Amino acid sequence: MSATAETKALTPPDIASRKDKTPLVCLTAYTTPMARLVDAHCDIALVGDSVGMVLHGLPSTLGVTLDMMILHGRAVRRGLERALMVVDMPFGSYEESPEQAFRSAARVMTETGCAAVKLEGGESMAATIRFLAARGIPVMAHVGLTPQAVNTFGGYRVQGRGDDAERIRRDAAAVAEAGAFAVVLEKVPEGLAQRITAEIAIPTIGIGASATCDGQILVVDDMVGMFTSFRPKFVKRYAELGEQAEAAIAAYARDVRERRFPGAEHVFGDAPKGIKGGQAA
Ligand code: KIV
Repeated sequence: MSATAETKALTPPDIASRKDKTPLVCLTAYTTPMARLVDAHCDIALVGDSVGMVLHGLPSTLGVTLDMMILHGRAVRRGLERALMVVDMPFGSYEESPEQAFRSAARVMTETGCAAVKLEGGESMAATIRFLAARGIPVMAHVGLTPQAVNTFGGYRVQGRGDDAERIRRDAAAVAEAGAFAVVLEKVPEGLAQRITAEIAIPTIGIGASATCDGQILVVDDMVGMFTSFRPKFVKRYAELGEQAEAAIAAYARDVRERRFPGAEHVFGDAPKGIKGGQAA
């Protein structure tokens, strides 16, 4: 039996059962090497549509396509053994009708091997979530600041302050009632996150929503300092890999220009020691 077969992958019901327990640890991943690192420490690996901004240089998530999500999803699948893999449904692939959402989500699941999808929206998406959940497609919902609605919101502002809190509470209640197994709460005030977490029966996964949630998620490139175009207040930097990579590239460029690289240890002779005809490496 292979190592892969011995490791039990987490399922959507496993995640749902973590309500009010040890916080769920979640990060995004878009590539096989990063998925391997995430898998060793996290409960959920989300192939987020943030991939468009983080890896493809897009100005928002709106230009991300189903084909992009599937390509990155297939790469992430190869790096995971234990974490639940969730793939984001991109803008335009699910909002039109429950049937459109089913067709897109079924493609994502069959072509990537993920066990669940994520989609943005609250009350307006409840019928779609119910439709998908009843047809074998586990859904993680996403309410509060939903980046695909950036043009409707007029920016990436905190959602649910003052009278607007009721709207977010209704959204969270609607997706839980419709059958989502967890919900991302993005950029909402701490008091509101705490209230919603107490009110609904499924785990809340916060991003900019305080430690009162049942779990946390961040964009991995943000928290390791690889994506530095902007830095939301809710991101904690655990490393500065972007700065390290920049210094490494600058050192390589200096070495090449000054003929210090490649050095003697990187160069091949005519024939390796002890081998006639030079067939070995
Ligand atoms: O696309 C994404 O990465 C996300 C998370 C930040 C929740 O939706």
